[in-house]
Amino acid sequence: MLKDIKKEIVIDERENKTENEILKYIADQLQFPGYFGMNFDALNDCLGDVNEPITITIIQNGMNPESEHVRIIGEIAETVSKWNSNITVKHLNSDDIIKRESNTNTILQAMKERRSIRKFKPDMPSKEDLEQIIEAGLYAASGRNEQAVITIAVTNQELRNKISKDNCKIGGWSESTDPFYGAPVILIVLGRKSRITYVYDGSLVIGNMMLAAHSLGLGSIWIHRAKEEFETEEYQSLLKELGIEGEWEGIGHCAVGYMDCELPDPPARKENRVYWIE
Ligand SMILES: Cc1cc2nc3c(=O)[nH]c(=O)nc-3n(C[C@H](O)[C@H](O)[C@H](O)COP(=O)(O)O)c2cc1C
Repeated sequence: MLKDIKKEIVIDERENKTENEILKYIADQLQFPGYFGMNFDALNDCLGDVNEPITITIIQNGMNPESEHVRIIGEIAETVSKWNSNITVKHLNSDDIIKRESNTNTILQAMKERRSIRKFKPDMPSKEDLEQIIEAGLYAASGRNEQAVITIAVTNQELRNKISKDNCKIGGWSESTDPFYGAPVILIVLGRKSRITYVYDGSLVIGNMMLAAHSLGLGSIWIHRAKEEFETEEYQSLLKELGIEGEWEGIGHCAVGYMDCELPDPPARKENRVYWIE
């Protein structure tokens, strides 16, 4: 479908390709004529003749004397790009890429590993960890960047137990049920009702928090019924006590604590949920 994507040539010093190998790769990719001389002058000339939009990405950290030829090729491409508008040159630092790749892997791994935890130890996680989890929520995307989502971090056990009781009542379970599975921390997420995307925004905040908790070795779970709680006058006055003005809807609770169980295996992924249009 996306026909206008530019062709991209990536020259990455980490591949340790020789000058000849890179020139051959560029010549093959751009279908240079047979008389292409496999040297820098010829590269300059042939890049000048390129008549379709291409991006040449140079990945280098500039510290490796072994990859001087990568730098020169980048310079040639840069010079030609000044007068041949079909050529765009992008420079990426290989150190940044390594960092980004390892971060991405950690994030992807956390996304697959994270599970809803349903048995917690009573021990309180450190405030530092909780702050990091809450901060991960603050960095969630939000519609029009409204950031109209707030978090009430409840570590006070008296209030925590009261919320548990109220949540249990809303759920219609027997009084002895703790819907928070013993988690000592309840992060209540609320969205400002006047914003169009508040439910989505709040959901994303909880998603970020659960991933952050997992990445810190803590367990978490989304517990529902915050909406019903905050529809009551009692919970509305809690907002007032905290100095929170305006109309807020409870989106959910992110219960957090140390796991008192093994990390569960992921439930099987349901099939046929992805449709590609290529
Ligand atoms: C919107 C939402 C509401 C949820 N509410 C509850 C809840 O009230 N109680 C509960 O035990 N789990 C709740 N969960 C957790 C889901 O049951 C859980 O995410 C699902 O079983 C998949 O398991 P996983 O999180 O380990 O992948 C909720 C999850 C979401 C996204």
